[in-house]
Amino acid sequence: MNEETSVESRFVERHPGSQRLYQRARQRFPGGVTHDNRYLRPFPVAFAEAQGCHKIDVDGHDYIDYVMGHGALLLGHSDPAVVQAVREQVARGTHLGGATALEVEWAELIGELVPSIERIRFHSSGTEASLMAIRLARAHTGRSKLLRFAGHYHGWHDAALATPAGVRAAVPSRGITDAVLGDVVVVDQHDEAAARDALGSRTVAAVIVEPTGAAMGRAPLAPEMLHMLRSVTEQTETVLIFDEVVTGFRITAGGAQRQLGITPDLTTLAKVVAGGLPGGAVGGRAGIMDLIGYDGDAVAGGRVGHPGTFNANPLSAAAGVTALRLVRDEPVNDRAEAAARRLCAGLRDALPAEAGVVYGDASLVFVALGIADDGQRQTLQAQGQRLLEAKSRAAATQLRLAMLDRGVDAMPGPSFIVSAVHTDADVDRSVEAFTDALDATRLTAIPATATL
Ligand SMILES: Cc1ncc(COP(=O)(O)O)c(C=O)c1O
Repeated sequence: MNEETSVESRFVERHPGSQRLYQRARQRFPGGVTHDNRYLRPFPVAFAEAQGCHKIDVDGHDYIDYVMGHGALLLGHSDPAVVQAVREQVARGTHLGGATALEVEWAELIGELVPSIERIRFHSSGTEASLMAIRLARAHTGRSKLLRFAGHYHGWHDAALATPAGVRAAVPSRGITDAVLGDVVVVDQHDEAAARDALGSRTVAAVIVEPTGAAMGRAPLAPEMLHMLRSVTEQTETVLIFDEVVTGFRITAGGAQRQLGITPDLTTLAKVVAGGLPGGAVGGRAGIMDLIGYDGDAVAGGRVGHPGTFNANPLSAAAGVTALRLVRDEPVNDRAEAAARRLCAGLRDALPAEAGVVYGDASLVFVALGIADDGQRQTLQAQGQRLLEAKSRAAATQLRLAMLDRGVDAMPGPSFIVSAVHTDADVDRSVEAFTDALDATRLTAIPATATL
């Protein structure tokens, strides 16, 4: 039996309940899953419950979780204060069909933490937030084009996914019209000249960027590029959108923008902003956001409409307010970062430098197999696409399966999203599981395909 079959057969043997559920799920869900990232061969693990940084699957196995609600759970699963706030709100009404004090408090807290957000509107997801940010930019500038960076993900609506042939799509998708594609320019995140050219044409309404780099910072972006974007967008009157759906309240309590010292025109938020419940928001300069306001009617061309049944829904608002108060008042990010640093160091010790590289930003930790580590951040930045490609290698999937069998659930890559409730003991156990999983998959023996 080769390593691949033995890792898989052990996985199958240990997860009969997940396998049975997958057989049912495949009859109902295309691909048998409800989110592309949850797809896993031979089948995904099905979970029953979670608490803190642990979760239990339907076969009763306990896992240390590094998916953490796809990044939404900076405070861990079912933080007691968030649970209490949501419980109280459920009893008071899940949809009041009108304005609430909670939504105002939520907006005020966000404005306090992220001062570039003078005005805000809430949605139900990050996808909706980027859709609205782009639409606002088009209305504000009267231009139609959108500048994006290859591999950067901004949700799954048309303008966010449309990618010209030959460019690596963050999420490849058919079903997008040529008309949408015609309005999108996608350049490499390090290609300063191409970005300058596109912006210089003055046909671009907005540039949208994951401020720490593609795929939550898996392919890190040099801050100089962002400073260049800020200055050229100012010169060309283009709207600069920071997509802080992942980085918001996580890189710092004020997002990546606080760390970078850059003020974007618009910011998109989701995940942490809603404390683990569904939610998103776009916020920024009053002069742009007020196009949604009713005085927008007075502006040539009219206002930008924004209905949405679950905008600022009271449950998400209750969870969001509670979570953001903790982010503001407690050393939540410090705790998550300290755990992530410990994890990063442990994984780095376990993975031979010639087999892969381990790196991270704040509470996010990435492993890229098949890229040798020379310890240089700049050379890491230069690896861009290869760091993204490393995520979908067969070896990365094998490693994830082997880690699942040893009680650790990581994101594809593997990538690790760390919370404020991962303890030293959790981290040390995770490093042990990673080390054993490397052994089981014999990945330590796989040489890197290239050096930095
Ligand atoms: C940077 C970024 N933007 C936008 C989104 C889309 O958010 P949602 O999944 O809430 O639609 C995501 C989701 O992972 C993301 O990582």
